[in-house]
Formats: sequence, C-alpha cells, structure tokens
Amino acid sequence: MYKVLFVCTGNICRSPTAEGVFRELARRAGVADKMHVDSAGTHGYHEGEPPDSRSIITAKQNGIDLSGQTARRLRLDDFTEFDLILAMAQSHYDFMDRIRPEGSKAELALFLNFLPGFEHQDVPDPWFGHEDGFQHVFDLVHSGCEVLLDHVMDAQPGKLR
Ligand code: 4NP
Repeated sequence: MYKVLFVCTGNICRSPTAEGVFRELARRAGVADKMHVDSAGTHGYHEGEPPDSRSIITAKQNGIDLSGQTARRLRLDDFTEFDLILAMAQSHYDFMDRIRPEGSKAELALFLNFLPGFEHQDVPDPWFGHEDGFQHVFDLVHSGCEVLLDHVMDAQPGKLR
C-alpha cells in the first residue's frame, strides 16, 4: 500500500480536486486498491464541509466525482501515516516543513515540481478569484497528477505492482 496526501489551505478547493483526480487516475491505471489517497488543509476553517461547490461542478464537468469528500485539518500523525505529502503551494510546504515531527517518514514535495515547466510554482488559490480559476486549477492539477502517478508507479514498483 502506498499512501498519498494532498495539502492546501482550506481543503475545499485545490487538495480535494487533487485527491479526486489522483484516485480516478489510479483506478484507471489499475492500482486503486494499492493506493490510499487523502487530502487535508493547513487550516481548519472549513472542517467537516464538502468541497466548494465550484470545485465539485468543475470536477464533474471533467469526469471526476468529489461529492463524497469532507474537509479536515492536517494532523501531526499524517507525517508518520503517509508515504508522500504534496503541498499545493510553497506556503503549504513551508508550513509543513516547520511542524513535521523529527524522524517522520513522509516525503514532502511541492506538487507542481513534478510537472515539467511548472517547477517551483503554486497551484493558485481559486477561492477568492473568478469562476474560470477553477478550470485552470483543475487543468493544472490533472496534468500534475498524471505525471505524479507515473512517478509513483516507477519509484514504488514493490508497493504498486
Ligand atoms: P483551498 O482554497 O486551500 O484550495 O481549499 C481556500 C479555501 C478557503 C480559504 C482559503 C483557501 N479560506 O481562507 O477560508
């Protein structure tokens, strides 16, 4: 089993989209039963809520179902539970790098560092922006998840194949 966690601020837009897309891509690749996929927020403002309706609608228009998800806050035990934790933006990476317990096993990475041409970039926060920001986020997340899944399948053959 390989465990992947996506982290953004509120866990209602970017990281739930990544969770839904990555899980679906893993299903299509035939590795869903060997992969645990989850998401969390650095802050608890929206704990217990479903994803933002604009994220749900955009994902649905692109064939991905986010409707069963519930926002939660990042926990310290996530750093020992998960193999790979993806920060949707540099601020999330910096926050997690500060609080991660010493010796915890999770590999921490900036999500877009996996997507050639987008290294060191943030997935922009669509929450305060315009409607089309959600499609832009979806497209970035989808492209990043495709590359990330290939990377995980290459790097973790023992756990996934
Ligand atoms: P997310 O977007 O981090 O992609 O879920 C946000 C959602 C809510 C807030 C910030 C970002 N907020 O400040 O409540």
